[in-house]
Amino acid sequence: MKDAPRRTAYDVVLAVERDGAYANLLLPRLSRERGLDRRDAAFAAELTYGTLRWQGVLDEVVAAAARRPAETLDPPVRAVLRVGAYQLLHLRTPAHAAVHATVELARAVAGPKPVGFVNAVLRKVSQGDWETWVRRLAPADERGALAFRHGYPLWVVDAIAAALGPGGDLAAALAEDRPVTHLVARPGRVTRDALLAEAGDGAEPGPWSPYAVRLAAGGDPGALPSVRSGAAGVQDEGSQLVALALARAEVTEGGGGAAERWLDMCAGPGGKAALLSGLLPEGGRLLAAELHPHRARLVARALGGPGAVVADGTKPAWAAGAFDRVLVDAPCTGLGALRRRPEVRWRRRPEDVDRLRPLQERLLESALDAARPGGVVAYVTCSPVPAETTEVVAAVVSRRPGTEVVDPRPLLPEVPETGTATHLQLWPHRHGTDAMFLALLRPPRP
Ligand SMILES: C[S@@+](CC[C@H](N)C(=O)[O-])C[C@H]1O[C@@H](n2cnc3c(N)ncnc32)[C@H](O)[C@@H]1O
Repeated sequence: MKDAPRRTAYDVVLAVERDGAYANLLLPRLSRERGLDRRDAAFAAELTYGTLRWQGVLDEVVAAAARRPAETLDPPVRAVLRVGAYQLLHLRTPAHAAVHATVELARAVAGPKPVGFVNAVLRKVSQGDWETWVRRLAPADERGALAFRHGYPLWVVDAIAAALGPGGDLAAALAEDRPVTHLVARPGRVTRDALLAEAGDGAEPGPWSPYAVRLAAGGDPGALPSVRSGAAGVQDEGSQLVALALARAEVTEGGGGAAERWLDMCAGPGGKAALLSGLLPEGGRLLAAELHPHRARLVARALGGPGAVVADGTKPAWAAGAFDRVLVDAPCTGLGALRRRPEVRWRRRPEDVDRLRPLQERLLESALDAARPGGVVAYVTCSPVPAETTEVVAAVVSRRPGTEVVDPRPLLPEVPETGTATHLQLWPHRHGTDAMFLALLRPPRP
């Protein structure tokens, strides 16, 4: 295939828009199938992730250069122009080389017809550098300018700013985008030292989770025997930490001395369930539940045994008060994992937050029903957006007087800057993890 890295980036960028594909799943697959060597795969990744990250802003530049809105372009032409504009404005590829290669890409994917147009638009784009385009197109107000400069929709920047609070390091939070891969050495199945040895040069132990390994840039987790066997998995260190906090929380009287029973109410694809099952005390049992059958099947692989039961957490198939510890890792916008899924910022809309909110509240209420008095519930999202995090918790607590909010900080004393007495919020720019949120609650006593 001619110019495989650019063609691969184009294919992924188009599939993300047209088919709702996930770049972090499709890109490694295409790179492998097309036999890209390490250098070409790294270039394809840079082009893909960069283009997706800046997509909405690149569209504004393309629209200004083309004198027509980007929405009016054919999707293949728009995808070619995005990849080309990203190279011109954010990479050091010499302009003539970037224009030439992108015009050839247009010819390969869309035939001769749009070639002249693509050439003309890219030449216009290349007449200014990134700073020139920022000066020309960024909104005048401070927040809008920050959103444009860092490649975010304004509403996402507003939500991140609200989560950080006054005086928060907003620009640092927005700038963070180094793609990273963390692994978990599943307790009882492989030790972290053994996993580190497999992962080779450049891999490091995670600073806080005793099970975490941070891979070197460009490392391929699929190549590691422990990952292939399921003894280890790809799991962000933040995701490990929230599971650890739940396992470490005190559960008070009322268990009757029986072995602990734990519930993971939204278990698919199974990262946290697999870690929790390795942390169970002697004789303890974990019930993993998941709404979607295909995701429930993924849990089986992660657990190395029976998978999740297919169940709707809002219509519990279990007795009330049956569990000592309950995890509700709620469906959310995923705006806390933008380093791995940069396109999510453009795909999500404020309406998604409104749509998810009732489900998040119902799942949390159901989790509180499932926990026994003195037991503990962890409400987790991979999003820092207050409407999905603190506001969900506040709404549920206000409807359930007597619900106790547990301070999570003493449970992870080794982790700095985690938040307040009511919740824990991790950040990529502070912790090198996803922006995971955790609140720990106890159901009211009868
Ligand atoms: C954020 S993901 C969970 C990730 C998982 N805990 C892990 O660590 O791998 C949320 C999951 O909740 C599932 N889900 C959505 N609605 C649900 C419901 N009503 N009951 C149970 N699971 C649900 C989704 O299918 C999705 O797999």
